[in-house]
Amino acid sequence: MPAEPIEDIWVYERVPGDPWWRDAVVYQVYLRSFADGNGDGVGDFAGLRSRLPYLAELGVDAVWVTPHYVSGGADGGYDVVDFLEVDPSYGTVEDVRALVGDAHELGLRLLLDIVPNHTSDQHAWFRRAVADPTSPEAARYHFRPASEEPPNNWQSMFGGPAWSRTPDGRWYLHLFTPQQPDLNWDNPEVQEHFDDVLRFWFDLGVDGFRVDVAYGLFKDPAYRDNPGIYSPSLFGHGPEQAMTTNQPQVHAVWRRWRAVCDSYEDGKILVGEVSLADLDEVGAYARPDELHHAFQFRLLKSGWDAAAFADTITEALTAFDAVGASAPWVLGNHDKTRQVTRYGSPARARAAALLMLALPGSAYLYAGEELGLPEASVPDDARRDPIYFRSGGRRLGRDGCRIPMPWESAKPSTGFSPAGSADPWLPIPADWPALAVDRQLGDADSTLTLYQHAIMLRALHPALGSGRATVSRAGDVIRVDLVARHSDSSPITCWINMGTSPVAVPAGRVLLASSPNADGPADGVLKLDADAAAWVTN
Ligand code: NOJ
Repeated sequence: MPAEPIEDIWVYERVPGDPWWRDAVVYQVYLRSFADGNGDGVGDFAGLRSRLPYLAELGVDAVWVTPHYVSGGADGGYDVVDFLEVDPSYGTVEDVRALVGDAHELGLRLLLDIVPNHTSDQHAWFRRAVADPTSPEAARYHFRPASEEPPNNWQSMFGGPAWSRTPDGRWYLHLFTPQQPDLNWDNPEVQEHFDDVLRFWFDLGVDGFRVDVAYGLFKDPAYRDNPGIYSPSLFGHGPEQAMTTNQPQVHAVWRRWRAVCDSYEDGKILVGEVSLADLDEVGAYARPDELHHAFQFRLLKSGWDAAAFADTITEALTAFDAVGASAPWVLGNHDKTRQVTRYGSPARARAAALLMLALPGSAYLYAGEELGLPEASVPDDARRDPIYFRSGGRRLGRDGCRIPMPWESAKPSTGFSPAGSADPWLPIPADWPALAVDRQLGDADSTLTLYQHAIMLRALHPALGSGRATVSRAGDVIRVDLVARHSDSSPITCWINMGTSPVAVPAGRVLLASSPNADGPADGVLKLDADAAAWVTN
């Protein structure tokens, strides 16, 4: 298969003494949906603790848990009432301490989620700010004087204006739901509070944070109109959102937070959600004294399209390499239609996973992708996502990727809750027992086994997950040559066939393939199925 190299990119390579996070495999747990320990139909820390051995067996390095704080319940926990307390439906602060202890014993790091752009409208600060416009708390949010029209054209990411009114007529800013007022990061008390929040959880042993809306925080001080309207179909925020995203002052906050991390000796990290369209701008968030990882979502938003995949991988590697950062890769999360459905088949999702897990950098997996879960269809009366309600049902929202995990095929609620529990908070589809963990463990052909093997091989081979990547593409076939720099281990090539018919690729030995390889390799040639990927050596 002749393929023109697109780019030959030297990136870091894992060497002894490297920080743990540079090539880590991180597993995202959607806490409400992972495992229910107390039988109320909602996932919690007791449930997560009981399933940690599963994650250790999967082979991941770290677990990232979505927000666990006391919450107003308006946006799946991303509306925080108290950053220093655990929501009672999940457990207690002591449960977090115990979870960290268990995780560390199993060799897993634990990351929490922090939400600095906004609080809940139930937060004590906001209640006081609404009650008294002259209070110090009012200065911690964005209020504008009463007027007929909203102060400007800023729109909520979930639809409708980004401004709502207080009972006395003032406007307050919320880039998400009205229950999520935006904090004013020019206020030093806001900055100081978050230093305390970081230290509180770090002191408990937590290893880091995923940082929500890390591209946000500051807004145009003059509240000028945005030049355009954000659309979720864009790769990320661009110039059209110039007044509400990517303000230069935000970088000083990440330098401040990095200094907090670096004041600990055990490798605390920050992983920012940086959904900006321009990958060089994303890279700037991962400069050596800022965030450890900056998520870009271009790959996540690319369809099943070899050119889009190859170009994005090349551009992202180049952008992160330019600042000496490692690239974080992500194909699924709690905000996005699951890969099986988005790409159109389980085979494609499996192939994409092999590609991602080969690339230099860190890989973020979303709970359930290792089972090949599809997006679930959710009855309208069971929906919970504010996106569905705020768009008047035009956008279905994210409930379909947030369904509770199927663990044990023969148990009630597929083993998500103990027997005799309340119904799961979102209904589990009737055909999901076939995908449950107990059905897939030990089955050589299952998606779970594919992930286990891929993660294990990645840990063993220096060429996988770090080193030099040369990305090339011929039509619908992408080839990534991976070479270790500091060791003499064999080079590995990852092939992915995103076309509709099989292709012949050179291969001496197949390390791992996403589809059964009936035809090869023979005489140095492997027949690679459509919608399949393989890791091969010569
Ligand atoms: C990004 C989170 O991933 C999403 O779930 C949330 O709704 C918004 N930020 C607002 O916090």
